[in-house]
Amino acid sequence: MIPLCEPKIQGNEWKYVKDCLDSGWVSSVGEYVDKFEGSLASYTGSQYAVACVNGTSALHIALLIAGVGQGDEVLLPALTFIAPANAIRYTGAWPVFIDVSFDIWQMDPQKIKDFLTKECTWRQGKLVNNKTGRIVRAILPVHILGHPVDMDPILELAGKFGLEVIGDATESLGASYKGRKIGSLSGISALSFNGNKIITTGGGGMIITDNKEWAARARYLTTQAKDDSLEYIHNEIGYNYRLSNIQAALGLAQMENIDSYIASKRNIAAHYREKLQNIPGISPMPFAVWAKPIFWLYTILIDAAKFGISSRDLLAKLRKDGIQSRPFWHPLCGLKPFKQAYAYQIEVTDRLYRDGLSLPCSVGLKNEEQDKVIETISRLKGE
Ligand SMILES: Cc1ncc(COP(=O)(O)O)c(C=O)c1O
Repeated sequence: MIPLCEPKIQGNEWKYVKDCLDSGWVSSVGEYVDKFEGSLASYTGSQYAVACVNGTSALHIALLIAGVGQGDEVLLPALTFIAPANAIRYTGAWPVFIDVSFDIWQMDPQKIKDFLTKECTWRQGKLVNNKTGRIVRAILPVHILGHPVDMDPILELAGKFGLEVIGDATESLGASYKGRKIGSLSGISALSFNGNKIITTGGGGMIITDNKEWAARARYLTTQAKDDSLEYIHNEIGYNYRLSNIQAALGLAQMENIDSYIASKRNIAAHYREKLQNIPGISPMPFAVWAKPIFWLYTILIDAAKFGISSRDLLAKLRKDGIQSRPFWHPLCGLKPFKQAYAYQIEVTDRLYRDGLSLPCSVGLKNEEQDKVIETISRLKGE
């Protein structure tokens, strides 16, 4: 099977992990945690980084720090992995699902604007969703598939409506927006390093911010809100969310190779684009002129009427030929835990869910493997 997206372990991973095992520094404190945090802060151009057990926990803490709580609402794209929606629910808040735009498949700033101006009212200094009566507190843009969200209009709207912006930079570490690295664009951002991300720690995450107090609070909340470590005084409910030194050791070694990983992803994307763009019924992955995407997960759209078979039929046929592919995430607003959440004008998300298919794009994908994917898709047209 040619896998969809698997990690590459090729550098100092064994050496650094062995170092932890030899030294006994295996838990949530150690030099690799500090170095890994430092490396993420400098790479994203942020002041502070706080390592967490995974991306979902990083999002949870980022939301708490941004002041999101019980009964609030947070604007979230309907087309994303479920983790940020779950993290919103952990705080007691609800997502408001916003559509993505068709041109770049990312959260649509125009629809955010329409929702805020047409569907919300100021009541006693608070912005309230007319339909649910809940207070709108924040926007959570998710930079999906390795491409940045168009952040300037979103930051402007957030400023105008007094909303916090929490970025989910998980799928776009290394991408940049108008010359600025993803992760440094919002007040606070979260990252994940699970197995299929651009770098992995097995499981892991990170909170990044320029705000010194927020970074200190993130450190405090992720270490059980410990006020006195000798007497075990805890003045708040905290979380056991810190990353281990062993995982950070893996992450540091991975960060040493991130530039070559991104170069591979970009080469894979360019080759798919060149070979697939002329096949009727296939749209290659789009990108904006202002973006430097990393193409973390290379995805195409299949127009069943022109290509001859649907995205799901193509998926099944590729699997028979030993090629793994994957549809987009199910639109979150249609999932059982989120049926009560408000969804605003979801149209493009449904279309992308129907037609999208992600193709093999591991950093270590061999040329002959990619050619096999391309040839198989060309052969299957109309079958
Ligand atoms: C956009 C996005 N956010 C958050 C996560 C969650 O990260 P984790 O699995 O590390 O909790 C993922 C993927 O796993 C993701 O794709």
